[in-house]
Amino acid sequence: MSSWIPFMPERASTFAWRVDALYFYLLGVTVIFSLLIAGLIFYFAVKYRRREPDEIPAPIEGSLKLEAAWTVIPFLIATSMFVWGASVYFSQYRVPADVMELYVVGKQWMWKIQHIEGQREINELHVPIGRKVKLTLASEDVIHSFFVPAFRIKHDVVPGRFSTIWFEATQTGRYHLFCAEYCGTNHSGMTGWVHVMEPADYENWLSGGAAEGSMASLGEKLFQNLGCNTCHRSDTQGRGPVLAGLFGREQIMQSGETVLADEAYIRESILNPRAKVLQGFQPIMPTFQGQVNEEQVLQLIAYIRSIGAPAEPAQPSGAALPARAPAGRRPAGQPDRKNK
Ligand code: CUA
Repeated sequence: MSSWIPFMPERASTFAWRVDALYFYLLGVTVIFSLLIAGLIFYFAVKYRRREPDEIPAPIEGSLKLEAAWTVIPFLIATSMFVWGASVYFSQYRVPADVMELYVVGKQWMWKIQHIEGQREINELHVPIGRKVKLTLASEDVIHSFFVPAFRIKHDVVPGRFSTIWFEATQTGRYHLFCAEYCGTNHSGMTGWVHVMEPADYENWLSGGAAEGSMASLGEKLFQNLGCNTCHRSDTQGRGPVLAGLFGREQIMQSGETVLADEAYIRESILNPRAKVLQGFQPIMPTFQGQVNEEQVLQLIAYIRSIGAPAEPAQPSGAALPARAPAGRRPAGQPDRKNK
């Protein structure tokens, strides 16, 4: 479906037409008003030109009708822009429930992508057509911006936090992936390709060489190599909280506040463990800042998630799906709640 308008990127996601329709509406309003104003300036300049050297025009009285018209009409136009824009915005930033999840780490100057099943790629992203795909974005260093023009998605990737965005591809093919935030010398080279495949092809591709194991199993290895398991034991005798059944549930902190144990919370607990300490525990955990990179943090999260909610299909972040709730010091009986 190549576009009949020059310079327009292809439309390959469910957002594409919605974004373009809004864009054309804004463009149309702009063009109409530019022409109207330019035309009226010209018309009035001719019509009301001074004809005699001592000509004095008749005084102008106010007109309520005119005042009302040029207040109400622009108000309605501006409101329509706001409502329309907000609805497109919300549908882009509110991740639906039945998504497939992918993890993207931006790093000077490349995009590193991990699939739950264990496939990892650099500057390439393979996705199936017709599936909703949620991306969790993290940065290893500076601010990048994940931009796929054909999908009409663009999102800043900010160090120190996770961002999420989603899309659903509607046509197979190969589409540009860019970094859209100046991030240093080779910013312009931080590009790649998104490959949209038929579901069967995608499954084939996925099964081809995930030798390293799934994200969760890589996370489990790390969990042991870093010695996490010496304190976070599976019984309740460890110095740290039992992690099984923790993900996706609300937890009570020492400060008394309630925090949902989602990706962001676990990331913070790994890198800055004293920020939010679970009630009943001491702030004795050392930071793992500098020992694990963002990709490894994502793997650890995938592992904790996998022991948190076994029968979990791809759920949006923060979806509460507790399964094994171990008896122990972890506060039990917290109501489950979606946070988004
Ligand atoms: Cu990364 Cu520009």
